Amino acid sequence: MRPGRREAAGGGHRGAVRVVPMTLRHLDAVTALERAVYPRPWTRATFRAELDKTEDRAYRVARRGRRVVGYGGVLVGAGEAHILTVAVHPTERRGGVATRLVVELLAAAVELGAVDATLEVRESNAGAEALYRRFGFDSAGVRPGYYEDDGEGARIMWLHDLAAPATAARILAEADRVGHPRPRALAADAT
Ligand SMILES: CC(C)(COP(=O)(O)OP(=O)(O)OC[C@H]1O[C@@H](n2cnc3c(N)ncnc32)[C@H](O)[C@@H]1OP(=O)(O)O)[C@@H](O)C(=O)NCCC(=O)NCCS
Repeated sequence: MRPGRREAAGGGHRGAVRVVPMTLRHLDAVTALERAVYPRPWTRATFRAELDKTEDRAYRVARRGRRVVGYGGVLVGAGEAHILTVAVHPTERRGGVATRLVVELLAAAVELGAVDATLEVRESNAGAEALYRRFGFDSAGVRPGYYEDDGEGARIMWLHDLAAPATAARILAEADRVGHPRPRALAADAT
């Protein structure tokens, strides 16, 4: 069957998703998505400042063709990776975009010297919690009143020993599951 006009123009959900480093040219799309997703969105100035801190941070965008469909960032300090943000465009959810981003954020974190990884999710955010549990993140408890906008508690999650073969294998299994290329930083250690 011949493709329809929308498909021929590369619209809709066609085309592969790729994850690339976030740069200034992505910030229009990233800040628009940020405003759509978060009650207290980061500004363009915040993202610009974050992108300058390459020594301990990594930001990635997921693109379908030229369209930014998601983004994420990680901060590494004292051997701990802190996943700061992951957001996917509402029309692109449940297609593995966040999985691709988390795989790449964890790989970048290992390259920056991370041994363990942690993050917070809103107590009510069962979808994000499920996403991270797939990678092996476990709950270490809830910090009440963590989010200032509405006082919701944060579930603190940890994934220990990223370079251990069993941990790396689990991350790579998530990459395989969504058809994402295995990052070298993790593949080298996995069995
Ligand atoms: C949470 C979020 C990032 C997930 O993005 P996504 O691209 O839809 O996630 P994926 O498609 O990679 O999901 C991978 C797995 O996580 C789980 N999952 C993801 N979203 C889920 C949901 N809403 N409900 C239940 N499980 C979910 C599922 O196990 C899913 O696998 P499956 O679709 O094969 O069942 C996205 O919903 C989002 O941007 N939400 C708003 C921002 C946010 O909450 N960010 C997380 C805080 S750091």
